[in-house]
Amino acid sequence: MVQASTFPQPAMAVPDLGALRNLIADDFRATDRLIRDELRSDVALINQLGGYIINSGGKRLRPMLVLLAARACSIRDNRHINLAAVIEFIHTATLLHDDVVDASGLRRGRETANAVWGNEASVLVGDYLYSRAFQMMVAVNSMRVMQIMADATNLIAEGEVLQLLNCHDPDTTEARYLEVIRRKTATLFEAGARLGAVITERPQAEETALAMYGLHLGIAFQLVDDLLDYRASSVELGKNIGDDLAEGKPTLPLIHAMQRGTPEERRLIRTAIENGGREYIEDILRITRATGALDYTYACAQRERERALTALQTLPDSVYKAALKKVTDFTLERGS
Ligand code: IPE
Ligand code: IPE
Ligand code: MG
Ligand code: MG
Repeated sequence: MVQASTFPQPAMAVPDLGALRNLIADDFRATDRLIRDELRSDVALINQLGGYIINSGGKRLRPMLVLLAARACSIRDNRHINLAAVIEFIHTATLLHDDVVDASGLRRGRETANAVWGNEASVLVGDYLYSRAFQMMVAVNSMRVMQIMADATNLIAEGEVLQLLNCHDPDTTEARYLEVIRRKTATLFEAGARLGAVITERPQAEETALAMYGLHLGIAFQLVDDLLDYRASSVELGKNIGDDLAEGKPTLPLIHAMQRGTPEERRLIRTAIENGGREYIEDILRITRATGALDYTYACAQRERERALTALQTLPDSVYKAALKKVTDFTLERGS
């Protein structure tokens, strides 16, 4: 079940977000075009590496949120296209950096950029994407947007550093884990959804509703992702599963399994977190199932999804609002 980095891998199966994309097909195409145009540089390596990751079949979930949120707020111009691309650039930059930090070999069903070009190139092209995102943001000419995105990127960086501190620490609590995923993942979902209301100058209550929707959706998304690291196949996920354990990352499945397991099981998980590696993976897969740790993680994701849906109630009804609800279904279905 758990595979080491065996290449080449079949292309990952991208889950079906098609119906939602169709609803905003023109926006989606325009965003994709802008992403490709803005990627270009006269430095060949940036085009190669950047093109490789951008064209490798990511779900484009975060730009979709920006587009749907802006449509739900009756956007009348095209600034949401620019911001959707900005959000995907920032996401892609964090992935390039994350795969270096996590020493990951597989992303989106293909070798990671760091596996192909090395860590140095991945970090530097990640920086290029980050800074290009801020250049593009200037065109929106909104101090509020700049402030939201500056704060968001800062929080994401803090989340990644906090996670580094938790690595190999078996005493990491559920609260510390949740704080990490809130910052490293949910922040970008929150900012993306919030921007829809900001650029359309909607009332504060709607801005907060969209932000809370994004925040809780983002937490649910990462909870499911962390559970899939113990349950999916690499082909399904497009990433090597068992990576979190290999890195000694105390994610919720392990934290809960330690709380529920026998003293012997607890000791084994502690050792696995302290040492990292895949040596104990089979035992740990069994313990996470037996202790209900995967079910617990899924239940936490469902709770976050409910919070996201509750937040959305403030927004006026529309097909776009209905689509935002469906995004929460998709997020949970990945883990069911
Ligand atoms: C991966 O996000 C990083 C996490 C927050 C778990 P996605 O699963 O949205 O990545 P892509 O863009 O579709 O590859
Ligand atoms: C996602 O973290 C990266 C960021 C949110 C910055 P993970 O390390 O958990 O994601 P995957 O599993 O590599 O996609
Ligand atoms: Mg990672
Ligand atoms: Mg992960």
